[in-house]
Amino acid sequence: MHIKKSQVFILLFCLSFWTLNAQVTHVSTKNSSLVYQVSKNKVYQFHYGKKLQSLAGVEKMSPFFNEAYPSFGNGSSDEVAVIATHADGTLATDLFYQSHEQNSEGNIQNTTIHLKDEKLPFFVDLHFKAYQNEDVIEQWTTISHKESAAVRLEQFASSALGFKAESYYLSHFNGSWAREMRMSEERLTNGVKNIETKRGVRTTEYENPSFILSLNQEAAENSGEVVFGSLAWMGNYRLSFQLDDQERCQLIGGINPFASDYLLENNEVFETPRMVLTYSSEGKNRASINLHRWARNYNLRDGDQIRPIVLNSWEGAYFSFDADRLKSMMDGAAEMGVEVFVLDDGWFGNKYPRNSDKAGLGDWQINTKKLPKGIDDLIDHAEELGMKFGIWVEPEMVNPKSELAENKPEWIVQRMNEREGLLKRNQLLLDLSNPEVLDFAFGVIDNLLTKHPRIKYIKWDANRDLQNFGSTYLQKDKQSHLWIDYSRGLESVFKRLDAKYPNVIFQACSSGGGRVDFASMKYTNEFWASDDTDPYERIFIQWGTNHFFPAIAMGAHITKSPNHQTDRETSLKFRADVAFGGRLGIELSPDDLEPEQLKFTKEAINLYKEIRPVIQFGDLYRLQSPYDEDGYAAINYVSANKEKAVLMVYSHDFHRRNEHNFVRMNGLDQSAMYRITEINMNSDKAYIQFNDQIISGDILMNRGIKVNLKKPLESAVFKFDKILVE
Ligand code: GLA
Repeated sequence: MHIKKSQVFILLFCLSFWTLNAQVTHVSTKNSSLVYQVSKNKVYQFHYGKKLQSLAGVEKMSPFFNEAYPSFGNGSSDEVAVIATHADGTLATDLFYQSHEQNSEGNIQNTTIHLKDEKLPFFVDLHFKAYQNEDVIEQWTTISHKESAAVRLEQFASSALGFKAESYYLSHFNGSWAREMRMSEERLTNGVKNIETKRGVRTTEYENPSFILSLNQEAAENSGEVVFGSLAWMGNYRLSFQLDDQERCQLIGGINPFASDYLLENNEVFETPRMVLTYSSEGKNRASINLHRWARNYNLRDGDQIRPIVLNSWEGAYFSFDADRLKSMMDGAAEMGVEVFVLDDGWFGNKYPRNSDKAGLGDWQINTKKLPKGIDDLIDHAEELGMKFGIWVEPEMVNPKSELAENKPEWIVQRMNEREGLLKRNQLLLDLSNPEVLDFAFGVIDNLLTKHPRIKYIKWDANRDLQNFGSTYLQKDKQSHLWIDYSRGLESVFKRLDAKYPNVIFQACSSGGGRVDFASMKYTNEFWASDDTDPYERIFIQWGTNHFFPAIAMGAHITKSPNHQTDRETSLKFRADVAFGGRLGIELSPDDLEPEQLKFTKEAINLYKEIRPVIQFGDLYRLQSPYDEDGYAAINYVSANKEKAVLMVYSHDFHRRNEHNFVRMNGLDQSAMYRITEINMNSDKAYIQFNDQIISGDILMNRGIKVNLKKPLESAVFKFDKILVE
């Protein structure tokens, strides 16, 4: 047979590609690479960071990091990703490469690496979904086996990643009820640092399952290498960072294994939640933009739909209302331009009416005393005024003083042996590991929406943690499944509702910001960032939140002053300007406003409607951090085509008057001209000298502008329109 020279070349090329491919798995996006190499039949991470254009020579290099999915029993003494007691009692697991496959569909590249224990039929698959344009990689794992009996899993990470740098700075987002998402950064030292929760429910309230790892320097907005990660999980999590003796940093992150041993039956598949990752070589801001775009495109319910303006009744009425009071609130809301009226807690319970948080939770029948004509009468009123109607529910919970607790005590999560249930906010948790209870929780909303199909918004709340650990449903040897099964059960209810009610808006609320995570966000349109609506506090809460989660999903409400949590007095303008930074809403009784305040709020709502597409779909740039000592904060949003922008500047603490307040914008078209217009003003005096003037993008971004905010709790908002020059 005669073979041409060119054919030999093609053959050699294919052969070398095949050999390379057998040794290397390249998970990649536009600007990042996560590379695995196979050495002596084991899989190691080779690189995670800047995109590698060529992998030539990788096979000549020896592994540098720990195994891709380190297991207990593989010889290492570091933190591991999986610990299993096998059916025969063996504790060691040692995972070997079997095969891998990769395919791409448009923007998404899917990769799976198959691993198997050296001796036992125990399998681990590593999965990766790489979103090219957004530079986001989702990483998760499935574990299964064909052993003779159940295998006890004691650790089951989603992600194991290694990093090598001179130094590592870890930012995480902690707080408490009404003080969520406070950012703190620390330099990692040798040993292990864990970010975790063991609360089971409302798991993002005290610490978010998100981190920023900055390499070689403290994280900066626009320079330096950073990795952002966030676990898409509504339950207990643990992200553990170990700095070893070789100055390598290893992250093992996933469901918190604490008291959560999982008996995995033969043929059952244990799927871990997704770890959402993005790498940026241009600092934090780029990483945030990556995640915001990714969320809107792939991980936020209706991420491409404008969010309506909501008036929520809570801070305006709390539990004390009747139909007339609500209707009067609706009248004011409609007058101001609100688009959805949401009736919060307190509308249900008859034997035990829900007139405070002490009774009625679980009894989802309309309170006939407060609302004798029912909900439809309220919906009629809202619709007559051109608004939609929404309602609050808390389907996972029960007050001991309720018909539900009387009738279904076995549905309550409990410590068993007749130990007293520990109360929080006077309530107990329902057992979502039990399919019957899942049907009940689904039914609470399904019944409401079936009986009242004109309800278009559901606020799903959850106001306690999982402390009374124990389930009457789970088998004796599977009690430790409760934390995991609860969270999976909850997600399954969200999924069912999402599928059945595509046109209903869902808000994830959990005592404020207890469910700010990418798992709930997949099935909900928005979250409530905090019960703290004081605009001063909100500047910090929103600042932390916007590192990971997009403005379109973040409920931000104008409330009354003094604030109900902090007693701080602030101007209506300041409150509105801060709420403009997210999905604007109102949470007060319009009846309590003076006519000029009502007028101001109406105009603010109108202005927000105009800038809403820029805030909800645009890119966010953080310009000045409230954590710096300068006493003011600034952000701007820019539309995708760079034709419109909005700048918000908040002076929250005293600063040296005119000396600071200097803002360099970001993300504009440098070569374009923009008309700058101050909006939402409360006097004739603008905060800039050149209001309504045309200024170049170049100046706005590179020279910067001074905004004359002089006192604490002052603020200014500007819109920018690109001028088309002939
Ligand atoms: C929680 C929520 C609030 C409100 C109350 C009602 O605290 O975060 O927004 O709905 O419950 O009880």
